[in-house]
Amino acid sequence: MSVVLGIETSCDETAAAVVDQDLHVHSSVIESSIDQHRAFGGVVPELAGRAHVATIGPVVRRALLEAGLDPHAPAIDAIAVTSGPGLIGSLLVGLSAAKGYALAWGVPFVGINHLEGHLFAPLLEQSDLEWPLLTLLVSGGHTMIVLQKGPGEHEVLGETIDDAAGEAYDKVARWLGLGYPGGPEIDHLAQSGDPSALRLPVSMTGTDLDFSFSGLKTAVVRATEKHTEVEVGDVAASFQAAVAEQVLRKLRTALERHEVRGIALAGGVAANSALRKGVSDLASEFGVICHLPSMAMCTDNAAMIAAAGLHRFRTSGASDLTLAARPNWQLSEVS
Ligand code: KG4
Ligand code: ZN
Repeated sequence: MSVVLGIETSCDETAAAVVDQDLHVHSSVIESSIDQHRAFGGVVPELAGRAHVATIGPVVRRALLEAGLDPHAPAIDAIAVTSGPGLIGSLLVGLSAAKGYALAWGVPFVGINHLEGHLFAPLLEQSDLEWPLLTLLVSGGHTMIVLQKGPGEHEVLGETIDDAAGEAYDKVARWLGLGYPGGPEIDHLAQSGDPSALRLPVSMTGTDLDFSFSGLKTAVVRATEKHTEVEVGDVAASFQAAVAEQVLRKLRTALERHEVRGIALAGGVAANSALRKGVSDLASEFGVICHLPSMAMCTDNAAMIAAAGLHRFRTSGASDLTLAARPNWQLSEVS
């Protein structure tokens, strides 16, 4: 496989990218329907699905043109498409489109696990990653620590037992009357707030590597109802400090238990300033390399799906046309 078209439609981003075997990104196009969801305070699955149907064709066309390929008969060797986990109505659009393109252009396709895609994102920015690697994957839908022995060789060490970190940010932002998605705004407000203004619990402080954020969200609601005088910036800073403390404690335990060469951050919440600083401090303390993704690589994109596809074609081969979308496909089920 030398040139792969990646397609990603698991949530609200419609994305297509062209990546070659050296992991050079020739194009990466992302359209989001986020503006349609803002008024609802979260992604509305039906609206997301409808938006993908309207957008997928133009997005794939742009990705091919920007890579210098003929959009009617592109010189690609394969297609990699997210087939789970995600919103079923969104996944079906990308998967069906990929099957159609594969048939029309006579190329194979492979279904990719979206979370495995996130794990490949650091490779697109730094092809000489050293293994083993601990990756903290934090997004609106997932929060997990993954031990990677090499590309595609992953073991989930811990994950959230309730809300994802980004989901907690979005819910607290909604409670505070901020916009959606709430993560960037809370992060911004937190920079000038007092993190000791509210006493919030740091959940799951044992040695277990699982996370929990729903209790923290409830604690923010209770504390702000009781202390109405506390400024919103101070609430944001207190919440952000509690999230970072939980996540960094888990990461520290994982580093103590597993000898690794580096730590990587992935997912939308990898944009968070407290996490970026905390992870980079931890990496220095443990003497390991720290891989902080650019903002473009934090969020959902199709280049990471194409990168995972290049690996999966080599190790598992192509999918067939009966491949179904798997909305709850766990990373631990990928083989
Ligand atoms: O990975 P992503 O783009 O979408 C998926 O969930 O797959 O992540 C979006 C999430 C949202 O919950 C958003 O609030 C959060 O990432 N987020 C942040 C920051 N930027 C985005 N959370 C905390 N701090 C940020 N700077
Ligand atoms: Zn994602």
